[in-house]
Amino acid sequence: MSKIKTIYACSHCGAQFPKWAGQCGECGKWNTISEEVAVSAAKPSSRNVGYAGTQATVVNLTDVELIETARTSSSVKELDRVLGGGLVAGSVVLIGGSPGVGKSTLLLQAMCMVSRQQHALYVTGEESLQQVALRAKRLALPQEKLKLFAETNIERIIKMAQLEKPQVMVIDSIQTIYTDVISSAPGAVSQLRESTARLVAFAKQTNTAIFLVGHVTKEGAIAGPRVLEHMVDTVLYFEGDRGERFRVLRAVKNRFGAVNELGIFAMSDKGLREVSNPSAIFLSRSTEISAGSVVTVTWEGSRPLLVEIQALVDESRLGNPRRVAVGLEQNRLAMLLAVLHRHGGVVTYDQDVFMNVVGGVRVLETAADLPILITVLSSLRDKPLPPDLIVFGEVGLSGEIRPVQNGQDRLKEAAKHGFKRAIVPQANVPKKAISGLEIVGVKHLQAALEAV
Ligand code: TYD
Ligand code: MG
Repeated sequence: MSKIKTIYACSHCGAQFPKWAGQCGECGKWNTISEEVAVSAAKPSSRNVGYAGTQATVVNLTDVELIETARTSSSVKELDRVLGGGLVAGSVVLIGGSPGVGKSTLLLQAMCMVSRQQHALYVTGEESLQQVALRAKRLALPQEKLKLFAETNIERIIKMAQLEKPQVMVIDSIQTIYTDVISSAPGAVSQLRESTARLVAFAKQTNTAIFLVGHVTKEGAIAGPRVLEHMVDTVLYFEGDRGERFRVLRAVKNRFGAVNELGIFAMSDKGLREVSNPSAIFLSRSTEISAGSVVTVTWEGSRPLLVEIQALVDESRLGNPRRVAVGLEQNRLAMLLAVLHRHGGVVTYDQDVFMNVVGGVRVLETAADLPILITVLSSLRDKPLPPDLIVFGEVGLSGEIRPVQNGQDRLKEAAKHGFKRAIVPQANVPKKAISGLEIVGVKHLQAALEAV
C-alpha cells in the first residue's frame, strides 16, 4: 500500500508547502493554509487537464482542417455579447463574482430561455430544487423544458450528464463540488482543480457547453476561482455592489472572442434586466452641475460608454496629502497631478484629492487622463464646467496630449447624447465635422486648460 502523502496548500493562491505556516509564503495571506492529501497520492482519475483532442501525428498549421465554431444564442443579448457572439459548443465558461451579485439569477434566466431550443441541465449544489423552482416561478421564466439536478459529487454529476446528454450545463457552484478520489473538503484547491479538470474533459469529449459558477470575495479570502482561470476557455466576472442596482459582466479571458467586452444589467424585483443603452444610466446627472464634475467617453470592448468623473480637492491637514481614486487608478492619479504641477503650473501638494467615477464603473484606460486633470482644476478653483462639455485624451509625462483609439466613434456617441462641445487630442479631431458638436483639438496640457 502506498503511503498517503499530505501537503499544505494555500486556499487563496494554490501554492503548496511541505509544512503548515500561518502566512502563505507566496501571496502573503494569513490563515489560508490547510492540510490536503497530495493529488499524486490520491490518484486522480483525469490527467487530461486542458484536453485538446488526440492526434498521433504532427501536422502543418495550414493542413489543419478548420471547423467553424458554431455559436448558439444564450437568449440573453448582453451575455452573448460578452461571450463574443454566443455560446460555443464544448466550451467551458467560468462566471466569477462575489456572493449575492446575481450569478445564479443570471444563469437561471439564461438557462430557462435556452432550454426552449436546446437540451439544458442546471446542477445546483447550493440551493435546493425548491429554491431554484421558486425563483424561476417568481421571475415568470419559461420552466417547462429545463432539467434540474441537485448534486455535489462530480462522479454522479458526470454519470447523470452522460445519461441526460445536455447541450448546455450549469454547475452552481464549483466550490460545492467534490470528488471521491481526494479527501479534502469541497472548495479546497485540489478539489476545485480536479472537479474542473473532469468537467473540462467531459465538455470537450461530448461537445457540451458548460457554465461554472465560482465565488470570489472582495478580499479573495475564499479559495478563488482564479486558480481555475487557466483551465477553462472563457472567464467572465460579474461585478457590482449588492447595494447598487447595476451589474457589469466583464470578460477577462476568452479563447473564442475578444476580451474586455462589457454586458450591463440592472437588478430589479423581476430579476436581471438587460441594459441596452448603458450611457443613459451612468449619466443621470442633475441639472445643477457643481464644480469638479465632467463627462468623458470611455471605450469598453466594442462600444463607447459615457461616464461622469468627479473630483473633490480640499485643503489637506496632513503632511502627506491623500490621493484617493474610486474606479480609477490611484498611481496614475498621482502621476497626473505631478504633470499638472510641472506642465500646467497648478499646485496640489497641499491638497487632498479624491476622485470618483459615478455609477460604480471602473475606468482603467488612459483616455480618462485629461478629464481627471480638468475636474481636479475645476474643483480646486471651485468653477463648474459647462454641462454640455465632453473631454477625453491621454496625458503624457511631458504634458503632451496623446490620441486615443476610436476617437471618432466616441465623439459621435457624445453628439448623440446632446453634448455640444468637446475637448479632445488634436490627432482625434475628425476631418469631417460632426453636426451639433464643436470640437476643440489640443496638443498640450496648457492649451487644454486654456480651452476650458
Ligand atoms: P443570486 O443570483 O442568488 O447571487 P449569487 O448566485 O451570485 O450568489 O442573487 C441574489 C441577490 O439578488 C439577492 O441578494 C437578491 C437579489 N435579487 C433581486 O434583487 N431580485 C430578484 O429578482 C432576484 C432573483 C434576486
Ligand atoms: Mg448562487
